[in-house]
Amino acid sequence: MKAHIITYGCQMNEYDSHLVQSQLVSLGADMVDSIDEADFVLLNTCAVRGKPVDKVRSVLGQLRKEKAVRPLVIGMMGCLAQLEEGQQIARKFEVDVLLGPGSLLDIGAALESNERFWSLQFKDELHDHIPPPPVGKLQAHLTIMRGCDHHCTYCIVPTTRGPQVSRHPDQILRELDSLLGAGVREVTLLGQNVNAYGFDAGAKLAGYPSFADLLRMVGGSGIERVKFTTSHPMNFTEDVAVAMSETPAVCDFVHLPVQSGSDRVLRRMAREYSREKYLTHIGQIKKHLPDAVLATDIIVGFPGETEEDFQDTLSLYDEVGFDSAYMFIYSPRPGTPSYKHFQDLPREVKTERLQRLIVKQKEWSARRNARFQGTLQEVLLRGDAYSAGHLEGHTRGNHPIVVPRAIGAEGAGLYRARVTATTPHMFYGELVGADGQALPLLPNLAPEAAGLTSPLMMV
Ligand code: 5AD
Ligand code: SF4
Repeated sequence: MKAHIITYGCQMNEYDSHLVQSQLVSLGADMVDSIDEADFVLLNTCAVRGKPVDKVRSVLGQLRKEKAVRPLVIGMMGCLAQLEEGQQIARKFEVDVLLGPGSLLDIGAALESNERFWSLQFKDELHDHIPPPPVGKLQAHLTIMRGCDHHCTYCIVPTTRGPQVSRHPDQILRELDSLLGAGVREVTLLGQNVNAYGFDAGAKLAGYPSFADLLRMVGGSGIERVKFTTSHPMNFTEDVAVAMSETPAVCDFVHLPVQSGSDRVLRRMAREYSREKYLTHIGQIKKHLPDAVLATDIIVGFPGETEEDFQDTLSLYDEVGFDSAYMFIYSPRPGTPSYKHFQDLPREVKTERLQRLIVKQKEWSARRNARFQGTLQEVLLRGDAYSAGHLEGHTRGNHPIVVPRAIGAEGAGLYRARVTATTPHMFYGELVGADGQALPLLPNLAPEAAGLTSPLMMV
């Protein structure tokens, strides 16, 4: 069998795709790079906003056409698969294999059955399954929990991924060991709400550390870089910032989605914290980690959001000075409370606010990134950048960076670089040796590489 997986959505989905892919390979499948070569195509879907759902519809339409002219098995997994909306789509486009986020280990049974195979149960044994480490990669994801116990009124995730189930620390450490053995240098701990790790349904689980202690355990394992995503301000505690500051492997990068700067909107979203509480957390982070890189998520145009509410979001942005933000237009999702009870704002109002927020984000990202100009950074380089002769990667603060290849740093690895130029989105730099001196460039690449370090070249 030749199989191809297409992944949409968040890092959780990337992890799940890797898990299913490793199952497929162990069942004897060859993974191929395109739909054309495949006789099994599996879409890992996202349902958090309308756009990724539209995308799935259009790819499934294409696959249905292919299936009419050649043997093709179509599969769908991920958040959309769990929803009635997704199942209607699956029926319409003749999806053969449908796996909810809790039933990924049924992939083998699905392929053995010669009939339509749909499985939507949440199976806890998923947490005991240790997928093989990714081959030849320096970075890996590691799931520490699944599901979410919050009920933000706009969010479909508690429906698609079910209630929170924390993974036992032994399984986390076993998987970490296997990643370390395979040469992984950076691990990102994944959960919908990592700060609530070990507190499922609000109750402390015996034998599970707090998230702060888990960070200490993972940070002490020998892995060089630890990141985590995502945090919920309601469950954020100061000891996480303390653990980060005391554990050198844990990167000074915090993604703390705020969603809105208006108390009125936060209440309507059922976020369970106020603007003031959010700012208190930011103050704690800045106290313990003065150089922390701060990222957030913001939804604009939530139903009922007034211009005044939106101004509160803009002023919160200024008060925090985020390094970066993922900004979304509110998307009404069937099955969520806000879809049922609130009236969507006109599209023009939402897009106009998004434009203003993007201007703010660019100003702040430009300013925050500029503070790194001339500094030395540890960079994890993944491999070739788009421009010839360059490598791309990211810093401990998650800034993407491009550097020219240099003698002694010709491929993927963990290196030191000096930042020579910054933009709101990117760093450009040069690799340096232990003495802080620039490493000599590979001779045939030197002129081109010199040009790229000018910010004017990047527009
Ligand atoms: N509309 C727009 N954005 C949403 N998000 C979640 N649900 C919605 C929605 N219905 C955003 C939130 C969350 C991120 C993963 O997606 O900002 O943090
Ligand atoms: Fe959605 Fe809230 Fe859970 Fe995040 S924490 S996934 S926003 S319900």
